[in-house]
Order: sequence, then C-alpha cells, then structure tokens
Amino acid sequence: MKILLIGSGGREHALAWKIQSSPLCERLFIAPGNPGMASLGDLVPIQANAIDELARFAGDQKIDLAVIGPEVPLALGLTDALTEKKISAFGPSRAGAMLEADKVFSKKFMRQAGISTPEGRGFTTMRDALAYVESRTEPLVVKAAGLARGKGVVVCRDPVEALDAVRNIMEKKIFGAAGDAVVIEERLVGPEVSLLAFIDGRTAYLLDAAQDHKRIGENDTGPNTGGMGAFCPAPLLTEDLLRRVEREIIVPLLDTLTRHEIDYRGVVYAGLMLTAGGPKTLEFNCRFGDPETQPLLLRLQSDIVQAMLACIQRKLDRVTLRWDPRPALCVVLASEGYGYKPDDQITKGVPITGIDQAAALDHVRIFHAGTAMKDGRLVTAGGRVLNVCALGDDMAQARTRAYAAVEKIHFAGMQYRRDIGTRAGIG
Ligand code: AMP
Ligand code: GLY
Repeated sequence: MKILLIGSGGREHALAWKIQSSPLCERLFIAPGNPGMASLGDLVPIQANAIDELARFAGDQKIDLAVIGPEVPLALGLTDALTEKKISAFGPSRAGAMLEADKVFSKKFMRQAGISTPEGRGFTTMRDALAYVESRTEPLVVKAAGLARGKGVVVCRDPVEALDAVRNIMEKKIFGAAGDAVVIEERLVGPEVSLLAFIDGRTAYLLDAAQDHKRIGENDTGPNTGGMGAFCPAPLLTEDLLRRVEREIIVPLLDTLTRHEIDYRGVVYAGLMLTAGGPKTLEFNCRFGDPETQPLLLRLQSDIVQAMLACIQRKLDRVTLRWDPRPALCVVLASEGYGYKPDDQITKGVPITGIDQAAALDHVRIFHAGTAMKDGRLVTAGGRVLNVCALGDDMAQARTRAYAAVEKIHFAGMQYRRDIGTRAGIG
C-alpha cells in the first residue's frame, strides 16, 4: 500500500515508525514530516494545513491510506476532501473533529450523551461570560472554545482570576480566534489519565491508558503546555474503572455520534479526571495524544496499519491488539521559554548534539518533535524539540533509561521536567 502520513511532530514520528514497520506498507510519504522521519519515508514539502494541496497530492499519487496526525487538518475537513476523492482516510470528518475544535459544541454533545463532565456552559459574548463568573462562587476553569495547541485553558484560583481569564481570552485574544467563544466550568480535582480508543463508527477498541504531564514545571506547576512527558500504561485506570469509562463515556459517545450522523472513523482521545465522584471527561480530542502516543506505540506489538484499516472498513470488532507488557515513558525536551512565550517568540535554529549517543542506549528510542536541518546540522525548530522514550521492566527502570539518554543530549536553553513518571500509580 501507498500510505500518506500528515504531520510533523513527535506523535507523527512515532506513527511513521510504526506504520513503516507494517508489512502492508510498501511506500510511505510524510507531509511535511521532520528530519527524524527522513529515514522512514519520503518527505513531501506540503504543510499539514494545506488541505487542497494534500488532497491533490494524495489523488495524483493514488494513495491507498492517509493517516492524519494533528487536529487542525481534521478540523479543516481533510478527511472530507480525501473521501470525496475516494481516498481512505484515518481520522474523523470535519463534523467529528468538532468534538475537539469547538469546546462549546463538545460540552453540549457530552450533556446530550449523558457523559459525565464538569458542570459548565459555553458563551459567545464577553458580557454573558463575565456575568456568569460573577454569579458563581466555586473555583472555575476558563477555556478558549477553539483550537489553541493545548494551551487555551486557564485553571483559576478565584473569581478575580476567572474574570481576568475571560477578558484575556475574549478581549485581548491571547489565544487568537480560538477565544471568540469560551467554556466556563467548575474546577475539579483529581489525577488525570488519557484514554485513547479506535473507533469505526460502530465499535470502539480501547487502547492502554497513559498519563500526560501538562504543566511546564515540576510537581505540576506553571502554565499548561501541549504535554511535557507521558507514560503508559497508567495503573490508576484500574480494570474496573476502565470498564466504567467504557460504559459511561465511550459507548454513549459512539451512540451519540451515530445519532448525530457523524462519520467518525479514527481515534478518539478522552482526557479524564478521576474525581471522588468518579471519572469525568475534561475533553475529547479527535486524534492521537502528543506525547502520550510515543510511549503507547513503543508498547504496541500489533500492526497499526491493519488496525487503522479496520477502523475505516468498520471491521474493528475483528481486531485484537497485542501490547508489550513492559511500561514505557517519554520525556519531552523543550526550547527555552516554551510554556511561557508564544510559539512565534521561541528561539529556533539552535544546534542539537548527542542524539546518536542517546539513541544508541538499550531500550531507548528518540522521536523528533520540532527539529530542522540548517547548513547540514540538526537544529531546534519549535517549542517541543525531542521526545526521549524508553521501555523498562518496570516504570522505575523506564525512567532511569530515559533520563540517562536525556543526559547525552544538549542544546542551548534545553528545558525538561525531571519528575516524569515519579508518581506513576499514585496520580
Ligand atoms: P483540556 O484541554 O480541556 O483537557 O484542559 C487542559 C488541562 O486543564 C487539563 O488536562 C487539566 O489539567 C486542566 N483542566 C481542564 N478542565 C479542568 C477542570 N474542569 N478542572 C480542573 N482542571 C481542569
Ligand atoms: N498531550 C495532550 C494532547 O495531546 O492533547
């Protein structure tokens, strides 16, 4: 098969690595990819958001399967454009991607589906949003409704912070057009897990759960980021809880997608908080998590292409996935200022050294997230730069191995959390 993978981050590097290892994959194109993926397929210089160009390329090349990594092309309707050309695409239609791309829609959807989610409401005017905050006494969370690369959420300590957050998002537009509307909801407490499930429109297949580390700073301090590290599996999501999540969240999600006649064939990501009142859904994403996918795929032993085709052909009920029982862990190496500065203000082009020495260590795998080649050298090209992943007989060993590999890598301003996985099992 000829496969086209869309995206350029660490998640896509991990996907490219798995896809390329499939006996079904004869040729892999990656648009636009990154230098880490160059040995896995043909890099195509088309940006992930260039829907028409991607659809044209896929048509011209007679692509058999397109795998869409990031949320933006999904929200822009890439799956719809490919389907029109009779090209099989892994990833939901534009309507399905709204589960992630429009938090106001998503909140309403969850309510209709009876899915347990923090109490809250969507607002399209600042006046109504401010009035709502003033009417509440409980701690609140203010979320930009649109896509904001995982950063559009402000967890507020008190109503004054919540009022500020509404103004910053809706008036000052700190998250751009994503802040044209907001969702304001009660602030809950509890550990978080990321649960991914393949979906074929009729059936869901739950993947092993992972835990992300969303805050920039150690001990979960500082602003939210796209994710600073992850591990898989997440022992917090016990078998009992998993069954409950399947019954109370995933099955109603499937039913409600069908009721809305939404064509959803791909992967859904449920961001769950395990509260005293049971698991609550903080968000749905319409794609694989980043960085959760990196440790997840390190453990996947089955053919991912077969599983993706089963989603598209609505044959997921015939799939059984095999997992390496060993846990895996991923440490994100980020550029100076990531988490605090807007992406366009982060210094790029900083030379990176030591990747080969790190990758040579046993049970270690490095995925590129934001890298580029400049004058024949590997340099930084984004906020999250590299994902250092390792497998271990237990989580402690996976951690030790990943951090030993991190030690070998250097670029000026490199920052990372030193506490990834330290709380595995206790949340
Ligand atoms: P989201 O993009 O909606 O998953 O939010 C990003 C992060 O903000 C989550 O992973 C949580 O850490 C935090 N968060 C979101 N909603 C809530 C909430 N209702 N209560 C507490 N924390 C939240
Ligand atoms: N790691 C969080 C996300 O992928 O949304």
